[in-house]
Amino acid sequence: MMASLRSFVSTDGLLRAPSVLLLLLLSSDNKGAWAASCFDGTSPFHPDQWSYCQDITDQGELFLYYNPIPVDGNLLLGLHATNHDTGGWSSLALGGNGGMKGASQIVVRRENDQDDEWIAEDRHSDDYATPMLDDKQNVRLLFAEQDAGKTAWGVLLMMNSCDVDHDYSVWNEDASRWMHWALGSSHTFGYHGVNRGQFHANLLAPPKETPDLSDLLSMDIVMPDVPVVLGEGGQDASNPYICSFFDLNTLLPAAGATGGADDKHHAVHMSPILHDASAEYTHHMLLYSCDTETITEAGAVHNQVIGECENMPPGCTQIKFAWAVGGQDIALPPDVGVPFGEGDNWLVLQMHYYNPSLDENIVDRSGVRVYMSPTLRDQDAGFLELNGGTDPSMRGNLPPGLPNIALNPFVIPGNSDCTGQWNDTLNVLGAFHHMHLVGSHMRIDVERNGTFVGTVRQEHHYDFNHQSFEESSVKILLPGDQINMYCSYDTSSRTLETAFGDLSQQEMCYGLIFYYPRQPQRESFGYFELPEEIVPVCQTAGFGPFSQVSLCAQVWATNMPAFYQIEDSEGSFSAADYCNGQAGSADIQPSAPFICPEECHSFQNCTDFETATHAQNIHCPDLCNEFGLSTYPDLGRPYDESNIGLWCESNDNGGDNDDGDEEDYFEGFIRRPNIAIRPDCEPRGDLSKANDFVLLTSDGVAPTLAPTLESSASVSRPFQMMGISVFLETIVLGTVSWILSV
Ligand SMILES: *[C@@H]1O[C@H](CO)[C@@H](O)[C@H](O)[C@H]1NC(C)=O
Ligand SMILES: *[C@@H]1O[C@H](CO)[C@@H](O)[C@H](O)[C@H]1NC(C)=O
Ligand SMILES: *[C@@H]1O[C@H](CO)[C@@H](O)[C@H](O)[C@H]1NC(C)=O
Repeated sequence: MMASLRSFVSTDGLLRAPSVLLLLLLSSDNKGAWAASCFDGTSPFHPDQWSYCQDITDQGELFLYYNPIPVDGNLLLGLHATNHDTGGWSSLALGGNGGMKGASQIVVRRENDQDDEWIAEDRHSDDYATPMLDDKQNVRLLFAEQDAGKTAWGVLLMMNSCDVDHDYSVWNEDASRWMHWALGSSHTFGYHGVNRGQFHANLLAPPKETPDLSDLLSMDIVMPDVPVVLGEGGQDASNPYICSFFDLNTLLPAAGATGGADDKHHAVHMSPILHDASAEYTHHMLLYSCDTETITEAGAVHNQVIGECENMPPGCTQIKFAWAVGGQDIALPPDVGVPFGEGDNWLVLQMHYYNPSLDENIVDRSGVRVYMSPTLRDQDAGFLELNGGTDPSMRGNLPPGLPNIALNPFVIPGNSDCTGQWNDTLNVLGAFHHMHLVGSHMRIDVERNGTFVGTVRQEHHYDFNHQSFEESSVKILLPGDQINMYCSYDTSSRTLETAFGDLSQQEMCYGLIFYYPRQPQRESFGYFELPEEIVPVCQTAGFGPFSQVSLCAQVWATNMPAFYQIEDSEGSFSAADYCNGQAGSADIQPSAPFICPEECHSFQNCTDFETATHAQNIHCPDLCNEFGLSTYPDLGRPYDESNIGLWCESNDNGGDNDDGDEEDYFEGFIRRPNIAIRPDCEPRGDLSKANDFVLLTSDGVAPTLAPTLESSASVSRPFQMMGISVFLETIVLGTVSWILSV
C-alpha cells in the first residue's frame, strides 16, 4: 500500500501531530469502482480534515469539500474535479444569486503557464465580465494538484473578511447559498466557456439530502399552452403578463387527493416546471389562491386564460408559490405545509414573460408541480409580503444617470399595529427579493428592541435574471421585531426617469418572507411615504373657509383620494362617501363622529357640502391624531422630511375588530421608527493558520503527485502539489514530518 500521512488541522482548528496510520484505514468509503465518491480514496481530501463533501453535479465527477472552523473563524474550501481533461484554472464562487454578477470567486491556477507556481486568487464580478481581483486577497492556498484529468485544491478563507462589497460572510450564516463552479482550459484566467455551473451549498452544515417525494400526491398547475403575446389592453409587448385560473375541484381528484377544495391540503414540496420551448421567456410566476365567491361570480372556468394580467384578478390575494428566473424547488420542513383549499377552490397562476426581442410563435406550458402530503401536517406556512414600492403612488421616479440610488428604507415597525400583532415565534424558511432591471442591491435586516439582530438576505448585485427564494440566516422572528428592507438602483444606463410599476423597465422594491406558523394578523405590509404636501399641512392653516383649521382637514374634506394617496378610480371616494360608508370606503366606516356629521351614520345620506362644512369645525389634533399624523399646531413633533408613514394593511374587512372602531384601519399611519445602527463588521478568521496546515491525504493518492522530502526541501519554486511557500517552510523547518509509508 502506498500512502502518505501528514499532520492536519482538525475541526477544532488545532494542529495535530502526525499520528497513527490508522486514520488511513478509516478513510475508505468505496462506493463503486467507476464513479468517484467523496472519500473513496481517489481524492486527496481526508474526512478528518474536510468534514463535509458535496457531489456538486450528482455525477460523481465534481466535488466540493469544506470544513468550517468557527474557533478560528476560518473555512476550508476545496474542489476536486475528476474530469478536467483540459487542465487549467478552476474556480469556486459564492454568489448572492444564481448568476455570476455579484459573485465572489476563488480562482486557483498556475500563475502564468503550465509550469508556474500555483496561486489562489480572490476575485469578484460586478457584471457578466471577467472577474476582477479584489484589492484585499482574503484567501490562502493550501494545496493544489492537477494530473491526468484530475484537479484538486484546497484553500483557507476567512468566515467573514469584512470586504463587504466583494466577499460574502459565512460567519453565523447557516443558510444554503448559491455557489458556482467553473473549469478553465488553460492557466490564463479567462472565459470559462460552458464548463461551469451553479449549485446550492450550506458551508456550515452537511449537504442536504435529496427529498423523497415518492409518497406524495402531486398536481401540475401549468399554463394551458398559452401563446406568449401581449393581451388586449397590455402596455408593453416585451413584457406580457398572462394568468390562468385553476380549479382545485378539478386538480385535487386528478391528484388522487381525498377531500375537496373545502378541505385543507398541505403542499410540502413545490417544483417549478419549465417548458423547454418557452423557458427563456419565462421570467417569473406567482401562484395565488382566490376568494371563491368573487371568482365564481366572475364566471371563471378551469384553465381559463386572462391575456392581460398585470394586476392579479380581484379576490386573488393569498400567495402560495413564487418563482423567478434561477429559482429552485421549495421544500417544507417535515411538520409544515403550505395550505391549499380551505374553502377557496380557485387558484390563479400569473406568468410574467420577458421577450425583449419580440420573438414570435412562443407557446408556454410552464408552471409548478405541487406535491401534497396525504395527511395534514401540524403547521401552516405563510408569506409575509413586504411591498416597499410597486407603483408610482408609493415611490417617486428614479432620476436617470445615477450609479447608486438608495431608497428610503422600508421599515416595518414592531409596534402593536404591525409585527406586534403576531401571536407566535415565526420560523423563517426563506426570502425572495424582487426588483427590476436597474435594481442593484437589496437587503432585509431584522432588529429587536432597538438592536440589530441580523440580515435575512443580502445581494450585493441584484440580478433581474437570477431571482430566487433563498434561505435566511435569521431563523426566527419574534412578535415586535422590526424589519428593515433596503433597495438600491443603478440608473447609469438610463437617460429618462424610471417610474415604479409592473413593467420590467419600471422598478419595484418588493420582498417576501416565507415562514411558519401562518399568522392570522399582519402578513402584508406596504410602504407609505407621507408626501411633503400632507405632513406640513397638519401644521399649516387651511384657506378660505378652512382658515381656522389645518390644511390637513381641508384636504381631508375636499380631496379624499389625495388624502389617502389613492390614485386609481376604483379606490377613490369622497368625504361624503367615506362618512356614508360607501364606495371604496365601505371597509373603513363608520367614522368617528367628530370627523363625520352624525347624520351620515344614521342615514348614510351626507353630501360633500355637509362633510366639508363639518370639517371646518374639526381641529387638527382631532383629525391628524386620528390618523397618527403630526398635529397642528404641533410644537413637539416638528416637520421632518425624512418622516415615513407606514400602512400596516388591515386584514380586517370592516366591522368590529380589535377594539371595535375604525382606528384599526388607520392606525397604520405612523412615524418612521428609528433604525438601529448596524454594528461594524467584525472580521472572523485568521489566514495565518494556513501556515499550520498540512494536508492529510487519504489513501490512494497517485504516487506521482506525492511530494518527496528532497524536492520540497530544496526547490525555490514550490513543489507542484503545494501552492504555498509557508507550507514548504514548514517542511524545510522540519516542524512537521512527512511520513511516506509503503
Ligand atoms: C395564533 O392565532 C391562531 C389563529 O387565531 C391560532 O390558531 C393559534 O393557536 C395562535 N397561536 C398562539 C401561539 O396563540
Ligand atoms: C423588548 O424589551 C421589553 C422590555 O425589556 C421586553 O419585555 C420584550 O420582551 C423585548 N422584546 C423582545 C422581542 O425581545
Ligand atoms: C338624510 O335623511 C334624513 C332622514 O330621512 C333626513 O332627515 C335628512 O334631511 C337627509 N339629509 C339629506 C342631506 O338628504
